[in-house]
This record gives sequence, C-alpha cells and structure tokens, in this order.
Amino acid sequence: MNERRTVIIDCDPGQDDAIAILFALGAKDRLDVRAITAVAGNVPLSLTERNARIIRDWAGRTKTLPVYAGCPRPLMRELITAANVHGNTGLEGVQLHDPLAPVAPQHAVAYLIDTLSAAAPKSVTICALGPLTNLATALTEAPQIRDRLREIVMMGGAFFERGNITPAAEFNIYVDPQAAQIVFSSGVPIVVLPRDVAVKAPITPARIEPFRAIGNRCGAVVADIMAAEVAYNKGRRGVEDAPMYDPSAAGYLVDPSMFKGRLVNVVVETTGQWTLGETVVDWNGRSGRAPNATWITEVDADAFYAALHASISTLP
Ligand code: BDR
Ligand code: CA
Repeated sequence: MNERRTVIIDCDPGQDDAIAILFALGAKDRLDVRAITAVAGNVPLSLTERNARIIRDWAGRTKTLPVYAGCPRPLMRELITAANVHGNTGLEGVQLHDPLAPVAPQHAVAYLIDTLSAAAPKSVTICALGPLTNLATALTEAPQIRDRLREIVMMGGAFFERGNITPAAEFNIYVDPQAAQIVFSSGVPIVVLPRDVAVKAPITPARIEPFRAIGNRCGAVVADIMAAEVAYNKGRRGVEDAPMYDPSAAGYLVDPSMFKGRLVNVVVETTGQWTLGETVVDWNGRSGRAPNATWITEVDADAFYAALHASISTLP
C-alpha cells in the first residue's frame, strides 16, 4: 500500500471528473488533496470551475478545498467541448445547486507555480483529468517546478483502443495536443491511464446499485452520474456499459497495486492531417526514444470498484 500523497487535481468536470474527485476526497487515509484547478474541456471554463465548486460542496469540503480557475482555451486551438456527452451543464444526470462558495481569486496557473515553487522536491502529485493546458502553461512559465513534482497521474490517450473523439485520438489529448506534448516532454515522471484501461473496468448496471445502496448524498450522485453515462452509451452504441475514465486515475493514486503497465516512450501527434492528438506509444521499444511514461493497460476491476465504494462511503 502506498503512503499518503499530497495531490492537486487538475480537471474539467465533467461527469467522470466528478466521480474521480469524490473518489480522491473520500480516500483521506491515502490522499491529501490540497486544491482543484479547473481547465476548459468537457464544457467551457465558467462551467468546469463552477462544477468543481458544486462537487466540493457534495463532499463537505466547501471551506477546506480551494478551487482555482485556469486556462479558458487550449494553447493553439479553438476549444472543442464534449457537451454532447456530459450535457450542457457538464454534469448531466444530477441535480445541481448554486455553489456555496466563490472561486479562489488567483489564476490556477499562478497557484500551481507559487505552490510548487514553495514545495519540497518530488513532494506533490498532479492528478490530471482534462486537457493539459494549465499544466503545460505552468511548466513552460516556471520550469523549476518540474523537480517539485513527484508524478503526474493522468487520464488521457489511447493506443490499443482507438480514439473516442476521432478514430485516432482520445478527447483530453485531442483538445490540446500541444499542451500534452509539452507535458510528455517535461521530464516529470508520468503515469497514464488511457482508454486502453478505462474499457477494462466498465460501468455496468450491476456495478451502479451498490453506490445508491450506501444511502449517502455522494453515493446517490455517483450512482446518478454512472446511470447517465450508461444511458448515453446505450443511446449511442446500443451497449449497456460505459468506460471508467477519470476515476481510473484517482484509483491509481488510491492503490497503484490494482493496476499494471509498462514504462515506455509516448509522443503526441501535433501536426497529423488525420491523426492530430494521437498518442504514439513505443510499446516494443523500437524508436530508441527514452521512456517518459508508465502506460497502464491492466486493472483489477473488482478491486477498483471495491476501493471506489469504500471511498464514497466515507463522504456525506
Ligand atoms: C476523457 O474525456 C472527457 O470527456 C472525460 O472527462 C475524460 O477525462 C475521456 O476521454
Ligand atoms: Ca475529464
């Protein structure tokens, strides 16, 4: 079992971001979550930062978990959202209230730079659940923060599975491929939870019910969101399950022994005519490029859902 980690969650909530955030906040014995930084992605920044504040209210963390708003658009491209999947609010399927407290005044990138500059070497883990714009901007403006990071644990990319926004690309990487390439070439240790593993712990109706049965507010929220994700996939693809995306990154932080992967080189396609945002993974070491990321491909799905359930059970 891992020791307690200091974590900052960078995200674009987002239905599955919400579950991931609650997963991390419930696992207080493993994770010390210091802040949420929001970025534009699934929906525009005005909604992702608002949703982050709603999620912290659900977890009873209104006063103890600051939310910072970051970059409103990708580095070089127009923002593409996924409101068709996550709904116009970004949190389709759940009742939303007006957040109980305002967003922090500082820009998320300034917060990251200030906090990491003052941190001990290799002491902070970033859990990245959206496009990597905030992180790439911070690493570019203040390269000295690299050594303060213990790890970046991100949901993004696809290699053995194909893309979900284009045939070649996964959404988080496709929205800001330049930012992703900056992060992959930063030298910071990276763990990637790609689509390849998200599809191996699918949300199914049978896996939803135990969350509703907990009887707390967060269990109901998680069950409602999962049900909305499955309903979307049923309408779109006719299947009664949905990939478990962002919570897989939180799950890795809670207990990395549930996962298996390989240390490999990953580069991001930033110019391809048809392959923009593709994650090119050198699985068999053919490129001669140095490994820069651990690419996760396996998960113990039953252990994962048990850990998620245990964590959500600790919340209001
Ligand atoms: C990723 O894209 C977003 O829509 C989800 O929140 C997740 O981070 C999956 O491709
Ligand atoms: Ca996300």
